[in-house]
Amino acid sequence: MSIRSNRKEEHLALAQKFFDAKQKNSFDQMHLLRPALPESKAALATIKTSMFGKSVNAPFFINAMTGGSPKSLAINRTLGQIAGKTKIALALGSASILVKEPDQLASFYVAREANPDGVIIVNVNALTKPHDAQKIVTELAADALQIHLNTVQEIAMPEGDRDFYWLDNLKQIRQTVTVPIIIKEVGFGLDAASIRLLKESGFNLFDLAGSGGTNFAQIENARNNHDVSYLADIGLPTVIATMMAAREETDFIVSGGIRNPLDIFKGLCLGGKYVGIANTFLQAMQEHGSQYLLELIEGWQEELANLLAIYGQHDLEHLTELKQYYDLPLKSLIEQLL
Ligand SMILES: Cc1cc2nc3c(=O)[nH]c(=O)nc-3n(C[C@H](O)[C@H](O)[C@H](O)COP(=O)(O)O)c2cc1C
Repeated sequence: MSIRSNRKEEHLALAQKFFDAKQKNSFDQMHLLRPALPESKAALATIKTSMFGKSVNAPFFINAMTGGSPKSLAINRTLGQIAGKTKIALALGSASILVKEPDQLASFYVAREANPDGVIIVNVNALTKPHDAQKIVTELAADALQIHLNTVQEIAMPEGDRDFYWLDNLKQIRQTVTVPIIIKEVGFGLDAASIRLLKESGFNLFDLAGSGGTNFAQIENARNNHDVSYLADIGLPTVIATMMAAREETDFIVSGGIRNPLDIFKGLCLGGKYVGIANTFLQAMQEHGSQYLLELIEGWQEELANLLAIYGQHDLEHLTELKQYYDLPLKSLIEQLL
């Protein structure tokens, strides 16, 4: 197995080892005022929406994780099937490996094969050459391209990048690639200044991937001999990243530490157009199997529709109007950072 494939398999094993379904995060400190008489009805139709021109059953999706290794191939095939059956979008893990190891294409393509008509998002790193990014989009018939910004993860890896002048290449990718582009973080959060810089360069959809869920400092720390555990706490909590993005007049995806349908609902109430879930879904599948994940996603669709009814909502249009209130530690962060 190549170094890159091996790294992906290590990430998979460590993401499982460190997963804690009950981990507290910023969503626990955010609350929504609920009407006791909502005048509403729970119905799956209320959460239907569209993504990149295709209709989807829910505004949440499976975020980028796997590809480029033997275990990834099996996972991507199953995730493709499940995304197709539940009609939600699926983002694949970084496909930058295909530039040097084109024989890994099958480990990504199995998802498209299993879900020929669904929304599939491909993912590359910020230094991928524009024509390589377009090739990957074409080969996987992708509906959109995610580009990940992962400085903390790179620094945490002894073999990682140390040069973070990425903007010029990002602009060139934008000029070349023919599908919508999402700029995403990987669990340390996108801040307002970076969003502004990217907006000036024409980007208009951001996946915030804040802290509170998967922590790549922790994962990389476990892979390496040198201690970088001190990096584990430097992320921007997802709720704060979301509030920052909401002030930037842009579309954004809420992600990082989504554990249940209430977190999704809160993310939508904070202004998220979509909500991304990575490790919670992966670990449901790793621990209980693919049928369990399928039923979990179907269940979450129903529970999200139930939440809309509880809060008196008839569609996804007016969720930001619900009154929000916060516990004091979160309120203090809001006062300091916004
Ligand atoms: C095993 C694993 C592999 C991942 N691989 C990628 C990747 O290749 N590209 C990427 O942009 N993000 C990757 N991520 C990050 C996720 O897309 C997501 O941003 C992050 O895990 C935070 O979401 P979560 O708390 O729901 O897991 C990976 C996450 C996990 C758990």
